[in-house]
Amino acid sequence: MRLIFMTLCFGFVLLSSCKGESDKTRIPEEQQQTEQTDLYTEKFRPQFHFSPPEKWMNDPNGLVYHDGIYHLFYQYYPEDIVWGPMHWGHAVSEDLVSWKNKPIALYPDKFGYIFSGSAVVDKTNSSGFGTLENPPLVAMFTYHSDERVKLGTNDHQTQGIAYSLDNGDTWTKYEGNPVIGNEGMMDFRDPKVFWHNGLEKWVLILVAGDYALFYHSDNLKDWELKSEFGKNRGAHGGVWECPDLFKLPVENGETEKWVLLISINPGGPHGGSATQYFVGDFDGTTFTTDQKDIKWLDLGADNYAGITFNNAPTDDRLFIGWMSNWLYAQKVPTKTWRSAMTLPRTLKLFTDNNDYYLKNYPIEAFDDQHYNSKTMAAINLEAPVTIENSNFNASDIRFMMNLSEHLRLEFSNANNDTLVFQLSPKTSEIIVNREQSGQVDFEPNFANNIQPQFYQPQNRMVEVRLIMDAASLEIFIDKGKYAITNTMFPSEPYTSLTIESEDGNTLENLTITDVKSIWNNEK
Ligand code: FRU
Repeated sequence: MRLIFMTLCFGFVLLSSCKGESDKTRIPEEQQQTEQTDLYTEKFRPQFHFSPPEKWMNDPNGLVYHDGIYHLFYQYYPEDIVWGPMHWGHAVSEDLVSWKNKPIALYPDKFGYIFSGSAVVDKTNSSGFGTLENPPLVAMFTYHSDERVKLGTNDHQTQGIAYSLDNGDTWTKYEGNPVIGNEGMMDFRDPKVFWHNGLEKWVLILVAGDYALFYHSDNLKDWELKSEFGKNRGAHGGVWECPDLFKLPVENGETEKWVLLISINPGGPHGGSATQYFVGDFDGTTFTTDQKDIKWLDLGADNYAGITFNNAPTDDRLFIGWMSNWLYAQKVPTKTWRSAMTLPRTLKLFTDNNDYYLKNYPIEAFDDQHYNSKTMAAINLEAPVTIENSNFNASDIRFMMNLSEHLRLEFSNANNDTLVFQLSPKTSEIIVNREQSGQVDFEPNFANNIQPQFYQPQNRMVEVRLIMDAASLEIFIDKGKYAITNTMFPSEPYTSLTIESEDGNTLENLTITDVKSIWNNEK
């Protein structure tokens, strides 16, 4: 019942948020500049996570590196702080830490809003949009036609492409759009394109309802459907969205495996949205796996629609997710903008008990934002220990502990807001409790949706790392074998951290480091 309700809810949002013709939403470039001093200082404004200068943002799109620049495009509605006719917002970075906002990259047109998708560097100029000397950036996205939604013909989502010859600053839509039409698939979207070495073709994966489709192309314009995956695999409690597919080496082994990311909404482990993954093989045409379990990329409630960079300059597989959940994304209590991205994370594959798992951990360059560090060599938890800090909501906390021992951390402030993180080896549960974390009344599901998740309380020392920005807490256990991302909206920053353990755990090398704002980096 709940599932059906959630689907309808999101469907309703999609149908009802249209505010009119796309060209009317065009904003003069000078108004999109962000160097205004009052920006990025608002209550709840993340200081070292990307958030849009103003208005509504959801999924990261078109993550691509080209000529020294990382591009972050994103689902953007420039007229309101709720979802609406989608554009692609744009920001760039040289290090994935500091971001510079750019003008909107893609506007809706006669085929519809610009939904999620990806971007590639067409190095051989296979599309003919550029030259070999100046290869084009090609973006592929879903067109969502609100007019066709109203006709009820179930063909409102098609795929389009656009190209840029100036490294993402300006874009031209292909005159032959849409490049993939729709013959009656209600949900048919979120193309992820990549170049397949070996096959020597472009491969495209997109989602259709609750399974994935794979296509081939030689020129990014003509696409041939080749295979499908997932009708009987993984979680199916909602619509599949935002797929990604890439190869990764398996840590400490000689094998390589393919990883398929599939976001799903609703049907996540906390209700609402979440990202599952499959580890398997891909021969260029068909993805196969013998994975039986459902695996989640992140055990928190707020990491959705994440994808990885194409053409990254190193072998690292770099991931960014949207740090929110469709259950309440449109109601969170920020005033001038809504939502932020996760920290960029490196994805790696490891084995445990003869099974493959994905871990994700912040990129090293993030540590450049550190300043003011305090370290305590060992903390014995025979009795609770409380540490005061003027602002935990801009900090990176790390320590080593035995994963088989109990731990409870409670962040609090003078208004008695409390945020709790607990590892309970007796029940193998990871618990985050944000019921009293601050403002929670904007949506009943926000406070009480978080369910315990499970871990293996092994007897070994591991790193526990907590990175807290204004309105988010990202927790990484054992270098990202467990990643837990949640948002919260405290009435004021947390200033006190109480650490307890039922079995007298000893924490080693507890380091609390303040984190600088990225929005001051350029000044
Ligand atoms: C995921 C998603 C995508 C879609 C986009 C619309 O959050 O629903 O499937 O393309 O958002 O904004």
